[in-house]
Amino acid sequence: MPNPFHAGFGVSPPLLVGREGVLDDFAEALENGPGATGRATLYTGARGSGKTVMLNAVEDLARGRGWLVVSETATAGFIGRMTEQHLPRILRDLDPKAVQRRLKGVTAPLGMGRVDWATAENHQVMAGLRSQVEAVTNLLAEHGTGLLITLDEIHRNQLPELRELATTVQHAFREGRELAFVGAGLASGVSDVVNDDVLTFLRRAERHGLGSVRRDDVERGFREPIEAAGRRVGDPALQIMVRATDGYPFLLQLIGAQTWRLHPHLDEISVDDATEGVERARRRLGTLVHEPALRTASDIDKSFLLAMAADDGPSRMGDVQARLGVGTSYASQYRLRLIAAELIEPAGYGFVTFTLPHLREYLREQAAAGI
Ligand SMILES: Nc1ncnc2c1ncn2[C@@H]1O[C@H](COP(=O)(O)OP(=O)(O)O)[C@@H](O)[C@H]1O
Ligand SMILES: [Mg+2]
Repeated sequence: MPNPFHAGFGVSPPLLVGREGVLDDFAEALENGPGATGRATLYTGARGSGKTVMLNAVEDLARGRGWLVVSETATAGFIGRMTEQHLPRILRDLDPKAVQRRLKGVTAPLGMGRVDWATAENHQVMAGLRSQVEAVTNLLAEHGTGLLITLDEIHRNQLPELRELATTVQHAFREGRELAFVGAGLASGVSDVVNDDVLTFLRRAERHGLGSVRRDDVERGFREPIEAAGRRVGDPALQIMVRATDGYPFLLQLIGAQTWRLHPHLDEISVDDATEGVERARRRLGTLVHEPALRTASDIDKSFLLAMAADDGPSRMGDVQARLGVGTSYASQYRLRLIAAELIEPAGYGFVTFTLPHLREYLREQAAAGI
C-alpha cells in the first residue's frame, strides 16, 4: 500500500494538524475585507515547523474562494519574477483585452502606434509592481475576489526588495484593495525585517509562531492517514510514535514514513515497527535537520552547544560559562548569536535550551563519534 507519509520540506502532509485556528484567522481576514489585520500575516518557526506547508494551505484556501495567488520565495530577484512572470501571466489570463487597454494608457505618451501582442507583453514587463497589482486587483474586483501574495523564507538579505513589496502592499491596503499578504520565515529573520523602518505595515501584521503540535493532534496526524490508506495502528504503537515526535511536525511525517515502510503489506503497524521506525527517523533527522542547521555554526558556536548538551534539560548560563571556561560577556555574546541563529532559545531567567528537537542527542552522538 502506498505510504501516505512523506517527509520533505515544502511537501504538504496527508493531514495538516494543529493549525486549524491559524487557518481560521486567515479565512476570516479574507471574509472581513480590506482593513482586516490578518490581511497581512506572518508565520514564524524553526526549520520543519511547517511554515511552507502553511503557505500552501492559505493559498489553497484563497483559491477555494476564487482568489488568485502569487507565490514566491524571498531569494534575490523575487520582485522581478513577480513583475515579469506571475503578474503578466495573471493579467493575460484574466483579460487579454484589458491588458491592451491598459497598455494603451502606458504607451500613449511614448507616441507608439499599434499595440500588438509582442509590444503588449514587453510593456507589461516594464510596468512596475504597483501598477500591475492595481491592474490585477481592479480586474478581480469585478468578480468580487482578490489577490493573495505569499512570500516564503523572509530574510534581511532581501531588504531592498522587501521594501518595494511592502510599499506596494501598504498602498493597496490604503486604497481598500482586495489584497492579502502572507509571509513566512525563521523568527529571527522576520524580526530583523519587521524592525526595518520602512516596513511598518509588517510590524502591524498578524504574527503566528508555529510551535509544537499538541499531542492529540499528533495522534490524529498519524492515525487518520494510516486508516485512510487502508492500515491500522494499535494504541501502544501509536503512543510510541506520538511521544517520539515531541510535537515537531517534520518528525511526525518522518516517523510516519519510516514506520509505514517496514511492513507496508501488513494490516497493522506493530509496536516493533513503531520502535524501529522511530529509531530510523531519529537517525535521518540528523542528516535532514541537524546537520543543515549547524552548517553555518562556527567552532565556538559548536563548543557552546556541546557545553549545553551536557545537561538533560534547559542549561543554566552560569554552568555553560564554567564548562567553557569563559567570562560572562563572552558567553552572553555567543548566547545572543545562537538565539539569532535559532539554534537555542531562552528558557526562563538565566537558562537556555535547544530549539530543534533531539539536537542535544545529535550533538552528544557527534561528540562521542569524535566528529
Ligand atoms: N501541521 C502539520 N501537520 C502535519 N505535518 C506537518 C505539519 N506542518 C508541517 N508538516 C510536515 O513537516 C514537514 C516540514 O514542513 P515545512 O512546511 O517544509 O517546514 P518549514 O517550511 O517550516 O521548514 C513537511 O513534511 C510537512 O508535510
Ligand atoms: Mg520552508
